[in-house]
Amino acid sequence: MNDRSPHRDLEPGSAGAIAWNAIVSLVTTAMAILVPLELVFSVRSHPAARLIDACFTIVCLIDIPFRLQQFREANPESADPDEALHRPRLLTFMFRWLSLDLIAAIPFHYLLGTPRLELLRLVKLARVGQFMRVWRRGRLRFADQMLIVFVLYWMLLVGHGTACGWIALRVGPMGENAATEYVDAVYWTVTTLTTVGYGDITPRTDAEKLYAVGTMVAGLAFFGYLVGLLASIWGKRDPARARFEAQIDRLAVAVRYGYIPRSLERRLYDYHYYMWQHRLGYDESEFLSELPRNLRAEVSLHLKRDLLERCELFTGTDVDFMKELAIHLRPMVLTPGDTVFREGDEGREMYFVARGELDVIANEGRRIATMGPGDFFGEIALILDVPRTATVAARSYCDVYTLSGSNFDRVMARRPDVHARVEREAKRRHGRSTADTDA
Ligand code: CMP
Repeated sequence: MNDRSPHRDLEPGSAGAIAWNAIVSLVTTAMAILVPLELVFSVRSHPAARLIDACFTIVCLIDIPFRLQQFREANPESADPDEALHRPRLLTFMFRWLSLDLIAAIPFHYLLGTPRLELLRLVKLARVGQFMRVWRRGRLRFADQMLIVFVLYWMLLVGHGTACGWIALRVGPMGENAATEYVDAVYWTVTTLTTVGYGDITPRTDAEKLYAVGTMVAGLAFFGYLVGLLASIWGKRDPARARFEAQIDRLAVAVRYGYIPRSLERRLYDYHYYMWQHRLGYDESEFLSELPRNLRAEVSLHLKRDLLERCELFTGTDVDFMKELAIHLRPMVLTPGDTVFREGDEGREMYFVARGELDVIANEGRRIATMGPGDFFGEIALILDVPRTATVAARSYCDVYTLSGSNFDRVMARRPDVHARVEREAKRRHGRSTADTDA
């Protein structure tokens, strides 16, 4: 079987690989700051500029074999008949990435004596963009925050490049020294990119005017993108909260127009608040249903592990059984006073308590037991095929999981010993209930 991920050549890999990628990004960023500066100010002979240039060349040259090695590790040669697929992948990789690495590594500006060719070094920034994608994938929890940081990073680099471009185009004196000139250019870039445009620095030549127009248009697109990005991140920051707020809005409308009696108002609010507080407002079943079965089982097991670990019934069972069970458990929330079912009802499912307390009531309102986290109930009707022997009602807010009769049979077929435990408990409880009734 071919279990290769389509992005294996981008895997974050070991700590060493991550550190190396960080070094490459750092040196490339320093180069991306230096190149535009070198083109407008005479900083090329400065020791710091020489050092960055030398480090960049060395890092780029080391990076080429490193990347080839990484690619080989991610795509090992094999006797697989699919091997034919491997070659085009290698060719694409060599063509797309290694050619860029090579262009960036060779100091064409020195070799050919054309300073502008130094801009070619900036193609290495494509590699920084690639790391950013890998880092975001490796830390899904912080993916949004990282996206904002990365967008700001690109904005700063683009702003720096635009300011240097403005200095290069500008005709006539701009400031007493390079620092003031640069600060003026940055000031012009920010006011133009954000389309604030105070008008104190105005374009004079045609080239300057065209450059200013291009900067304003790019600024509009850039800030439009940024605002959209922030709005979408803010909107999806917490689906449970968004759902809670929408439900409360709907509730407020219904209450205002008198559809809902006042007595129910408080209970409804409490219910939604509880759902939100416990992150139950976000229905995971839709997201789970999109996953392949194996992955769905793993995620379900993880989401319900608290309950499954607590329930003594399942001690000593294997992971495969737990996964199968977790897939079939459906969450349900009860508010204080809710009745799950009544004595004499027909029973088609059993229940597992994850949180909260429930009363088992029989014999005309007498409480015969209390169920808490890790307990199960509703098994008598399911196994002994009799009507419900008691009424079960929530005493507090409860999170319970239901397991339908058909899924119960399917899951228990894998572990007759667990089935026997449930059956033994059902008979014991049934015996006690019958004895109580007789007494
Ligand atoms: P069932 O009869 O399907 O529905 C009512 C449930 O209450 C029952 O299954 C048991 O799970 C539970 N129950 C009934 N009698 C007792 C008892 N004596 N002690 C604890 N639980 C009980």
